Amino acid sequence: MTTEESEALSRRARAGREESGLTGRTLVSLEELRSAVNECRRCTLWKATTQGVPGEGLGRSRLMLVGEAPGDSEDRQGHPFVGPAGAILDRALQDAGLGRDSVYITNAVKHFKFEPRGKRRLHIKPSASEIEACHWWLGEELRLVAPKLVMALGGTAARALLGHPVIVSQLRGSPTRLSATAHLWVTIHPSFLLRVPDDAQRRNEYARFVKELKDAIAWIETH
Ligand code: URA
Repeated sequence: MTTEESEALSRRARAGREESGLTGRTLVSLEELRSAVNECRRCTLWKATTQGVPGEGLGRSRLMLVGEAPGDSEDRQGHPFVGPAGAILDRALQDAGLGRDSVYITNAVKHFKFEPRGKRRLHIKPSASEIEACHWWLGEELRLVAPKLVMALGGTAARALLGHPVIVSQLRGSPTRLSATAHLWVTIHPSFLLRVPDDAQRRNEYARFVKELKDAIAWIETH
């Protein structure tokens, strides 16, 4: 087959996948995730974004952290948790004795959802159908990383992992079984810490979050 013929074939295959709306593919390795997520047409969020934002970090980490969806900075840079919420998460990981490179960090939804407001792009929570469509990629990450513990950072991540709406405060604080090989630990989203108006309360909430990260590591060590 000539190069032109093979390019035409892959163009046709891609067009077929786009038409069906099902561009999810089974990955052989995490290295494929970026291009696969960028090709994804399982929902329509990709249309307004710069790029898809795949998970990243330690490929065989025992701890996986799952956030909601990329924000403005993540959409521009192509990496998860690199904006204001990411700065708090980095600090909390460090205070818990963890480096970013020792965990795997991803999001329930891989494209930024926003509403333009002047020059700004305001984050919007992904819908149930967008969370469901994107679950394909989360499933692939869970299979390839095979973590022992998955921390859901906030309600959207918990919903994506459990398949139903969740009240974070009801599940927070101890692990529940997620699959034959993994447990789930539900906690707050780090952006919550940015919104606590009272200084003392914010410090308490931050300390609680760091303690949960430490407890999660201790749980992994002992199970
Ligand atoms: N919030 C998230 O949930 N994920 C990110 O990557 C950034 C902010």
